[in-house]
Amino acid sequence: MKTLKILVLNGPNLNLLGTREPDIYGTETLASIAQDMNACAKKLGGVELEFRQSNAESDLITWIGDSRGKFDGIIMNPAAYTHTSLGLGDAVKAVGAEVPVVEVHLSNTHAREEIRHKSLTAPGCIGQIMGFKGYGYSLALKALVNHLRRS
Ligand code: DQA
Repeated sequence: MKTLKILVLNGPNLNLLGTREPDIYGTETLASIAQDMNACAKKLGGVELEFRQSNAESDLITWIGDSRGKFDGIIMNPAAYTHTSLGLGDAVKAVGAEVPVVEVHLSNTHAREEIRHKSLTAPGCIGQIMGFKGYGYSLALKALVNHLRRS
């Protein structure tokens, strides 16, 4: 079985998880989410994860654009750029046929302010998981690995 390399991207302010509006985003930190995902990857077997976070839109766009030939898939929480970044949406569409992307949100954005209802990044993704706080990242990992292994 081929080892799958998955890139896990987190956008702006997600470095503050744990203390950032915990009633909305939960108390897990990015480090504890990474730990849970690594445990999930170990159970799945043959999965290697790389974690990156940036508050800069350009970093996220560059990392997605450079992912071809290096990663088999991407799990991404674009945070506020979800609702504002056509550039990030275009990057996902540019690589999506070769490097499928799953979008994750800790909160259920549809149950929040109207500005958060629209995602400019989701149209290029194979799917979206939201509302399950940090656990959503492991759900996304299972879904992405299942997608990659049956395609
Ligand atoms: C978020 C939802 C976004 O609307 C918000 O800007 C974030 C986090 C989430 O994970 O629920 O920063 O992506």
